[in-house]
Amino acid sequence: MSGSDEPGRLPGGNTVLVEFSGGIAWVTMNRPDKRNAINPVLSFEMLEVFEALETDDRCGVLVLTGAGDAYSAGMDLREYFRATDKLSYDERLKIMRKSAMAQWKRLQFYGKPTIAMVNGWCFGGAFNSLVACDLAVAAEDATFGLSEINWGIIPAGTVTKAVASVMGQRDTMYYVMTGETFDGRKAASMGLVNEAVPRAQLRSRVDKLARTLLEKNPMALRIAKHAARRVRNMPWEDAEDYLFAKLDQLRFLDPEKGREKGMTQFLDEKSYRPGLAAYRRDD
Ligand code: COA
Repeated sequence: MSGSDEPGRLPGGNTVLVEFSGGIAWVTMNRPDKRNAINPVLSFEMLEVFEALETDDRCGVLVLTGAGDAYSAGMDLREYFRATDKLSYDERLKIMRKSAMAQWKRLQFYGKPTIAMVNGWCFGGAFNSLVACDLAVAAEDATFGLSEINWGIIPAGTVTKAVASVMGQRDTMYYVMTGETFDGRKAASMGLVNEAVPRAQLRSRVDKLARTLLEKNPMALRIAKHAARRVRNMPWEDAEDYLFAKLDQLRFLDPEKGREKGMTQFLDEKSYRPGLAAYRRDD
């Protein structure tokens, strides 16, 4: 990656571009000729980028998107399927495991807030990173599809799990079974993305959303988003205990002591209202 606020690429790789601007790292999957289909090189470079950005102060929010007219056309049929058919089970597993790290495992509990910006084609394997990102905004005319059934396989490698974790059962079944495409508006109505906006406004909307996140206490955001994922499958009693523990962990870990600042600014200084905005972090 290059210096502050300049477009750049990882040393030795060009399938992932990183551009910094005012606290946002715009990470672009960059195989536009192949509609950003995910081959092993792209996966490995995504993983390197995620690792690097997690401790890079220039990245307060990570936005994941695709170059050209695609977010990503999913797993590369040539390089992930045909090419690995010849490999041993262990060799295949090794590649798939690393891909899973890049496509969802590393992202699900990432240290910084993440936003998927779906700028176009989004198929199959691309749903992994889409769902693993904390938030997602799509162009209204982006095209989504679980195309696996159209070429005789199933949405495996966690794609079905990803879809089922954010969409209802009827919609999940419908698109898994029909392979029909749907647009960004429909994706928003099913909860696959937070919202869909006209293509011309996509980047500015995501920029604004990222800036809202940058105003918040980073440690509180990190713990809040991880907790929101984990409590989904916890019984109430466990969730209550876990959330109290996380609240205490936050007080212990928060370097800027946001809780105290927030209370002082509201209760003593009467200089802001927590119901309407974030406390001033520069005090
Ligand atoms: N795997 C491998 N190659 C892919 C790919 C994929 N998932 N998606 C696109 N490509 C390649 C095409 O083979 C083509 O390569 P070529 O120029 O060497 O012939 C190039 O990308 C452009 O694809 P093309 O189909 O000509 O682009 P398009 O804009 O007309 O259509 C799609 C875009 C995404 C609708 C179409 O490429 C497609 O259906 N891709 C497969 C989507 C899919 O089923 N993904 C699920 C995988 S799990």
